[in-house]
Amino acid sequence: MEFKFNLNDIFKQSVVEINNSLIPPGFSGDRRALWDTLGKVSEVINTVGEASAASQGLPKPITTADRLRNSEQKLYLLIDQTANNGKGAVTGMLKTGKKGLYVFDRDGQHYQVTPPCVLDFYIHESRQRTGLGKQLFEHMLQKEEIEPVQMAIDRPSDKFLGFLNKHYTLHSPVKQMNNYVVFDGFFPRSSEQTETKESKSR
Ligand code: ACO
Repeated sequence: MEFKFNLNDIFKQSVVEINNSLIPPGFSGDRRALWDTLGKVSEVINTVGEASAASQGLPKPITTADRLRNSEQKLYLLIDQTANNGKGAVTGMLKTGKKGLYVFDRDGQHYQVTPPCVLDFYIHESRQRTGLGKQLFEHMLQKEEIEPVQMAIDRPSDKFLGFLNKHYTLHSPVKQMNNYVVFDGFFPRSSEQTETKESKSR
């Protein structure tokens, strides 16, 4: 995704984390420069949010600059700094945030939890299946110090389910009525129950 302006003037790294301030890491400048930067960051977020929604067949974007500004969510942007004659291009986006959820395990036991969630994930069509999604997802896991199985996924697409199976051997999703999906190992007590069963059998 290319823009008229030079992305490398705004985003200084290949993966950039944006929160509700919308101020990119490493920003320096006066008030006018800040307004200019915020306008450009908003344009980038809205454009990538629209592309993600179109790619997933959603009626409207779930990621917009306005929604990010009014949230505690984090947006990771993947930048190819060399593309577009050195002006850079946005190649992907990943949004995470905590949500209060009721989740049911396979036995129908329910839990009230507030897990970190994958809310939106997109790699530009021209770059899908080249490993960029894994690169961006791994960056997020390191930053948030979390394992994929500890996260709930909002309406995962088949592509994303394939991705999780391939890279993290997460399969047989436990689908929830709220459209979130979790995997075995997510539930707080499942490991304790296994331990109890194992210790009884010893
Ligand atoms: N069909 C089936 N599986 C796919 C596809 C596809 N078109 N694209 C990616 N995958 C899965 C496969 O497991 C693939 O491995 P394979 O090529 O050996 O079969 C693996 O992902 C590839 O891994 P990466 O190259 O690291 O993934 P990629 O860069 O393509 O990013 C992503 C994965 C984000 C799902 C990307 O394909 C994409 O943007 N898809 C369209 C939008 C989308 O579905 N986003 C997720 C919505 S759900 C949510 O956001 C919570």
